[in-house]
Amino acid sequence: MIDDIINLLDTYDFNKEEKEEFFSFIIPIISHDEFIKRYDALEYPHHDNISLGYHILSDAMVTYKLIKDKDKYMNVDLKTAVIIAMFHDLYELPWQNSPIKKDHFTNKHGFVHPIEAVINAITWYPEYFENKEIAYIIIDGILHHMYPFPVKSALKNIEELELNNINKYKKLLPKYKDMIIKSTNRNKLFKLSISRSSYIEGRIVSKADKQVSISKELKSINSLQSLITGRLRYK
Ligand SMILES: [Fe+2]
Ligand SMILES: [Fe+2]
Repeated sequence: MIDDIINLLDTYDFNKEEKEEFFSFIIPIISHDEFIKRYDALEYPHHDNISLGYHILSDAMVTYKLIKDKDKYMNVDLKTAVIIAMFHDLYELPWQNSPIKKDHFTNKHGFVHPIEAVINAITWYPEYFENKEIAYIIIDGILHHMYPFPVKSALKNIEELELNNINKYKKLLPKYKDMIIKSTNRNKLFKLSISRSSYIEGRIVSKADKQVSISKELKSINSLQSLITGRLRYK
């Protein structure tokens, strides 16, 4: 994985100092078994033949570069933005052709995977959520990374969301459940929240995610459709 990361950093024109700084941000995250698992393209294909882990790292690199290369982002919290990118798609199960059927259309992968990602990130990387203010910036950034695509609003009756990691949600401290509920109930329309992140760090990750997915990874219209429905028509 490290060799791939170095190659990818070169394609995004990272200099030596930038590489060192980027590695210092991501090493504790990529060392986790759950991340390593998601780096395997056979276990976790994300777009076409790109693994979920590779996609996440690409997003994190584009996020880093967007911030570093623009004066207007001088006051942005670079580390927090990279962390949001590293956590944004840590959803529970490979989404392509999942055998799990959802009762409600708005509980499909496209609408709920940011919530699963937040739950997993807090469970696997609790140290990043110790500071209350930063925790909310990270949580809000992950939850709204798909904007303008909506995220499902977390409800009092969380079972209704048909999450694949509901058991982990139940074990979260109440303060984190409150943050998830608060963030996914902003700009609510029916049971969906259509809102960009409240913080610049999250908004930059959202922008990076689109740049990476649309320009580099989504090679066909089928991939784009399957992102929402979770079904692939070819293969
Ligand atoms: Fe996503
Ligand atoms: Fe993504």
